[in-house]
Amino acid sequence: MTPRPKRRAAHYRDHRNQRSRSTGLGYRDHRIAQRTILITGGTSGIGLALAGQLLARGNVVIVTGRNTPGLEAAERRFPGLHTTQSDVSDADGIRALHETTIARFPKLDTLVNNAGIMRNLKLGDNRSLEDVTREIDIDLTGPIRMVQQFLPHLRRQADALIVNVSSGLAFVPFPISPVYSAAKAALHAYTRCLRVQLQGSGVTVVELAPPGTETPLFRGEFEKEMKGQKGMAVDVLVRRAITAIEAGKNEIRPGLSNVLNIASRLAPNVIFHQMSKVGRS
Ligand SMILES: NC(=O)c1ccc[n+]([C@@H]2O[C@H](COP(=O)([O-])OP(=O)(O)OC[C@H]3O[C@@H](n4cnc5c(N)ncnc54)[C@H](OP(=O)(O)O)[C@@H]3O)[C@@H](O)[C@H]2O)c1
Repeated sequence: MTPRPKRRAAHYRDHRNQRSRSTGLGYRDHRIAQRTILITGGTSGIGLALAGQLLARGNVVIVTGRNTPGLEAAERRFPGLHTTQSDVSDADGIRALHETTIARFPKLDTLVNNAGIMRNLKLGDNRSLEDVTREIDIDLTGPIRMVQQFLPHLRRQADALIVNVSSGLAFVPFPISPVYSAAKAALHAYTRCLRVQLQGSGVTVVELAPPGTETPLFRGEFEKEMKGQKGMAVDVLVRRAITAIEAGKNEIRPGLSNVLNIASRLAPNVIFHQMSKVGRS
């Protein structure tokens, strides 16, 4: 009988930027090569750029998205990329994704919860109850359910990695995007708890909190509000994220995300006041 790895029991600590994955040298090796990686929402923006860079490093990469034309375009752009149509807001879809992915890619060891939407919502507008919580369904419930479904498999791998893509807005809410801000703040809290619960399990939990990044999401519903603002280039963001994961960081806050994180602790009302002016005029 194989002995189960010992877990650290009572007092888990939330080690920020800890080094992990023991190499016998006292730190863990986080190189992202020769992994089998599932990226939700990998047909556009950050997910697509991440897929491209991870493929180029010799990983097997599978991406999901809801729309077939987007999946086909991603395959054409990056030959060798695997794609599967799946909606993270659909529980049955997650169960089916798990079954087909594990059967086809039994070495799957990395899950990137990246799929997300961000809307410019006026809370006083007439909207159905189903519609008003779409960001919760996709950006929060989606990653929680994906982890729930894939964790047993990931725990059986020698060295697994979960990356949850939150946002700088997890630290300071953006009033023109209220449900999104709530979803990302909750995803941040969930990811911290997950990291603590999985400490010592062989599954590393990383949070990537991007700042405004030049993708269709950034421009989509915010063209007017973001006029004159330039987001981080998506390839730069992804390069920085990969470098940070390989350096053993577990909460990655590139550029303005780090500013928001610090400001949220030092002067929370000042920064929130500034963010509250956007879209007012
Ligand atoms: N860009 C930014 O400024 C920024 C900043 C902070 C955080 N983020 C986060 O980064 C992540 C990626 O955003 P992005 O800027 O790259 O957006 P994007 O270019 O709009 O790409 C979003 C991706 O998610 C997929 N997707 C959306 N809903 C889905 C669902 N229900 N199930 C499966 N896939 C779904 C989309 O494909 P389909 O539409 O075909 O499903 C697409 O592949 C999101 O979680 C976002 O919140 C972005």
